[in-house]
Amino acid sequence: MGEASDKLLWWQKGTIYQVYPRSFMDSNGDGVGDLQGIISRLDYLEWLGVSAVWVSPIYPSPMADFGYDISDYTAIHPMFGSMDDFDELLAEVHRRNLKLILDLVPNHTSSEHPWFKESRSSRNNPKRDWYLWQDPAPDGGPPNNWLSTFGGSAWEKDEQTGQYYYHAYLKEQPDLNWRNPEVQEAMLDVMRFWLDKGVDGFRVDVMWHMIKDEQYRNNPTNPDYTPDMPPFKKQIAAYSVDQPEVHQVVTKMRHLLDQYEERVMIGEIYLSVDKLVTYYGNENDEAHLPFNFQLISLPWEARQIARAIDQYEGALPANAWPNWVLGNHDKPRIASRVGKPQARIAAMLLLTLRGTPTLYYGDELGMQDVFIPAGQVQDPWEKNEPGLGLGRDPVRTPMQWNAADGAGFTTATPWLPLSANYKEDNVEVEQQDSSSFLNFYRRLIALRQAEPALYAGRYIPLPAGQSVIAYFREAEGKRFLIVLNLSHSPASLTLKEGMEGEVVLSSLSTEEKRKVKGEISLRGDEGLIIGV
Ligand code: GLC
Repeated sequence: MGEASDKLLWWQKGTIYQVYPRSFMDSNGDGVGDLQGIISRLDYLEWLGVSAVWVSPIYPSPMADFGYDISDYTAIHPMFGSMDDFDELLAEVHRRNLKLILDLVPNHTSSEHPWFKESRSSRNNPKRDWYLWQDPAPDGGPPNNWLSTFGGSAWEKDEQTGQYYYHAYLKEQPDLNWRNPEVQEAMLDVMRFWLDKGVDGFRVDVMWHMIKDEQYRNNPTNPDYTPDMPPFKKQIAAYSVDQPEVHQVVTKMRHLLDQYEERVMIGEIYLSVDKLVTYYGNENDEAHLPFNFQLISLPWEARQIARAIDQYEGALPANAWPNWVLGNHDKPRIASRVGKPQARIAAMLLLTLRGTPTLYYGDELGMQDVFIPAGQVQDPWEKNEPGLGLGRDPVRTPMQWNAADGAGFTTATPWLPLSANYKEDNVEVEQQDSSSFLNFYRRLIALRQAEPALYAGRYIPLPAGQSVIAYFREAEGKRFLIVLNLSHSPASLTLKEGMEGEVVLSSLSTEEKRKVKGEISLRGDEGLIIGV
């Protein structure tokens, strides 16, 4: 499948770059990133060649979950700046022909949000039904067995009114009741507020969580649970997520978006592919891009990944646009997971597959997870369930801009420690080295943006050996063969008789105009993009 390149919209053609605002650039010397910081680094993003910036939450928040606990949806946290700073950011982004995507967190508010304060104040408060209140079980315990993702029961008892409220994440993040039309209207108003300002779309937090079983049935035990999984996986979340009625609310959100021009809705959804693709909607009337996290979740194994790509391509509904993600603020960094040489292969995969690529800040430098000493832990998940490796601080450390103290990120002590290798792995150093990770990424993005075959073309898989992934991308009479060696040992791929081509990009070198014919020999950790 492929699309005529001239019919594609910006979010289909371009690369999305995720900024975690606390860690991108600190302009006012408090150790935490901010909006003026982001503005000061937009030239860099333009240089890198990305098309859109998604910024994780910047709204007022007690920061129990670092901004994913929002106490005011239509304002800016003073730590990040003011609404004037936001307006400037939006204008500066647009001046560069980039797009700005905001994080929308509709599933839950902060417990400090005025809506929740009202809701918890009494059983007959008009906003009582805005959240999920239930009577205790007959023994006085939680209403059912649902678990919080961040550990323990998902129910918190409110002593004053004697009922429990549901929180899929922290108890400081009560879930809204999306069956209530007033809640729906209130959140649609929030969306209108930002859309009217001109933001180009939303990444919708935990979209698959928004509706829960109306009868609050107990979740079944997960027979496949093993102790290396996070404790909440002890259950199959049959009744607490991905309920059929969620599609109605996502459709409502999409209808609102469709009243504006060329806005995008991305859904954060951790589900198997068959369920994930239902979030495109029966009529393509739900998320434009239900985030596809397979490259994050699958073992780094060529045959498994190749099969997953084909299955995903096959599962996409008609007219649905694919997408791929390599990292985000919740998951181990790719360069730590597969090692730096293979992280180049991963980048090649991300930027040559069919569908919109999303890249996480710092991954373009080859940034790796940073060890966080116990005393410096910030992430509430790590605090709740220490030592299980669930903490997300290691992937949220400051962006590495240069070799100065504070890595060019801050003049103060950064809120999370810097990586030990920031003096070598940083933007300034890597920009000057043509063989650096960063310049490799930049070349890949530039190639993708220049070639309709790569951003719009058909995807045609090729059979390949145990450690190799191979496919064509093809459009408008031009064709590329992508061959990726997912192992550290040499490998090869035999081409069809008569086929020959020239290497356009190798993950290992900048030199060559290597010609290929007959059999392609790949060095260990080598990936090639070949014009054929
Ligand atoms: C999403 C966010 C994550 C947050 C959670 C609760 O998964 O990506 O960072 O902790 O939602 O809002």
